[in-house]
Amino acid sequence: MSAIDQVQVDVHLGDADLAAALRSDVGNGLLLPQKELPPKWLYDERGSDLFDQITRLEEYYPTEAEREILLRHATTIIERADADTIVELGAGTSDKTRALLDAGRDHGSLRRFVPFDVSEEFLRVTATTFAEKYPGLEVHGVVGDFDRHLGQIPDGGRRMIVLLGGTIGNYPTVARKEFLRQMVAGMIPGDRLLLGTDLVKDPARLVLAYDDPQGVTAAFNKNVLQVINRELGGHFDLDQFDHVATWDPIEEWMDLGLRSRIDQQVSVDDLDLMVDFERGEYLRTEVSAKFRLASLADELASVGLHVEQWMTDSAGDYAVSLSVGR
Ligand SMILES: C[S@@+](CC[C@H](N)C(=O)[O-])C[C@H]1O[C@@H](n2cnc3c(N)ncnc32)[C@H](O)[C@@H]1O
Repeated sequence: MSAIDQVQVDVHLGDADLAAALRSDVGNGLLLPQKELPPKWLYDERGSDLFDQITRLEEYYPTEAEREILLRHATTIIERADADTIVELGAGTSDKTRALLDAGRDHGSLRRFVPFDVSEEFLRVTATTFAEKYPGLEVHGVVGDFDRHLGQIPDGGRRMIVLLGGTIGNYPTVARKEFLRQMVAGMIPGDRLLLGTDLVKDPARLVLAYDDPQGVTAAFNKNVLQVINRELGGHFDLDQFDHVATWDPIEEWMDLGLRSRIDQQVSVDDLDLMVDFERGEYLRTEVSAKFRLASLADELASVGLHVEQWMTDSAGDYAVSLSVGR
């Protein structure tokens, strides 16, 4: 089987779909009393590339912490899950997932890899790269939105669903429970969930991780305004907004957004929209929740998941949990 024959990509988010969803999210989000945009719009091709750069910053400790855990425990994870399919939600480059695929290949059980992401360009590259690297592995990519297309994940076999990079933390508490519930609804007995979660820690380290001195995270965050300018005829001047990253000790999440430097009006032509920003007004672009092991176990139990294995990095910064449905 050639690498090309190994790859299939299902696209559930065509251009028209994406455009309609963006129009709706921007039209609604910019008119809220507390302006807000869903984080998925940060990840066009440039945004995905900037996120990849973030993962290599010294200040952004979660990537290396998660890699350390996966490299150390990949074999036991694979043996316990005994999965023939790894489904990776929010795959991005799937860089750390190689540890699991290597262990799955050595174990002999793995036959299929299903990367799922909203970013089609990145997903196609990931799918082809992995087909070349793992001869004989079926790679079935899915371009979709967590909130609409979890039901389109190919079924069959024993599956391990993998959600890394702290992506689960991008959901605020209530929406997170609904997302987990939807995911569990699609699991069959024996399917596993491997979940990467960043842990509560010194706020100064957290703020530095999301506001690096090189400005890569700021560029990533501001990229959402470029997406609106390009796709919807927006007229945002990126220089009139500051990247802001603050720790919210009540919600226990990093709150990321853009603060208007001046009083300004910004038009978005395709939506016939004129948006007022006061000087200092905040547009939230993402939250990144941080977790505590006991409350996370309770949260997973509340949707019917039982944690079989907890794994943390040597510094205790980050946790990966392997869960099974009850
Ligand atoms: C925080 S990054 C993590 C990437 C990678 N898994 C890692 O560990 O480095 C989140 C990933 O989820 C994808 N994503 C974000 N929102 C999504 C959504 N609503 N549906 C599908 N994918 C989404 C992004 O494109 C991005 O690749």
